Amino acid sequence: MKYKLGVIGDPIDHSLSPKIHNLFAKQTGINIDYQAYHVLSENLDSFIKDFFKNGGRGLNVTLPHKINCLRSVWGSSANVTRIGAANTLKYSSGAWGDPKIKADSTDGPGLIEDLKNKFKLSSANVLILGAGGSALSIIPSIEECSPENIILDNRSQEKIQSIIDRFDNDDKSNYGLLPGKIPHKIVHIDNFDGEIDLVINATSAGFSGPFKWHRELNVNSKTVFYDLSYSNNKEKTPFLEWASQYSDNYYDGFGMLINQAALSFTLWTGSSPDTEITKADLFDD
Ligand code: ATR
Repeated sequence: MKYKLGVIGDPIDHSLSPKIHNLFAKQTGINIDYQAYHVLSENLDSFIKDFFKNGGRGLNVTLPHKINCLRSVWGSSANVTRIGAANTLKYSSGAWGDPKIKADSTDGPGLIEDLKNKFKLSSANVLILGAGGSALSIIPSIEECSPENIILDNRSQEKIQSIIDRFDNDDKSNYGLLPGKIPHKIVHIDNFDGEIDLVINATSAGFSGPFKWHRELNVNSKTVFYDLSYSNNKEKTPFLEWASQYSDNYYDGFGMLINQAALSFTLWTGSSPDTEITKADLFDD
């Protein structure tokens, strides 16, 4: 069997997903046809419908479709229900051959998988910079690892409170889990005065020019810094360039990229690929 897979986004030219999934296919001996599809917002619903009707087994979803792809799905994982966005769609057969599409999000779990060998999240004070879709997509997965606090800071302060409010009244029964409130430890940075153990950059600050932050952070040489963005083989990301003035413990999001892809691959094929892929495997010099 050949799995028809792909990634949709706008733009999509620079996606590394086809390369990564073809490496996974080679390792696991699974036959795939993984293409990058440039899909405009106005064609999103019809593209997804046709893709799965015509033998598609799985899609990765990237910007700007992570929220709107949910219009086309039949069911969502608990993680997707909490964050309201997905990065993986999977075929499952429905009645009369009609495809049923299930949405999942492997971004948060991919981050946790990558952090496993780098940082112990349980009982840690974790600061997330940013309050957009990227920040939102990692919060539930971090929460499940029992940190002491998840602290939020953002350039626009009003967005911090809206994320806190969003998670504040979460009830597990809303997500098909055992009933009961999820214990909350998400705090506004103004209400936190301890030391920060891990700083995660979930902003797009630094995309054009050096990274800057609007306040002094309570970090030290033991603080670990993690950028959800990644760079090619040669340079540090602007956030890591900035972080290196405080600590030698810093990582970019390349490991998260590989791990979220591996989790999608497993959802589609049932096979777990080796995630020991390096930047040299993917980037041309
Ligand atoms: P994504 O889906 O990638 O998270 P987004 O929802 O547009 O994208 O969110 C971008 C995040 O980067 C926001 O937290 C944004 O801060 P604001 O809410 O204040 O806009 C943050 N961001 C973007 N450019 C920034 C900059 N130059 N300095 C600080 N934060 C910045």
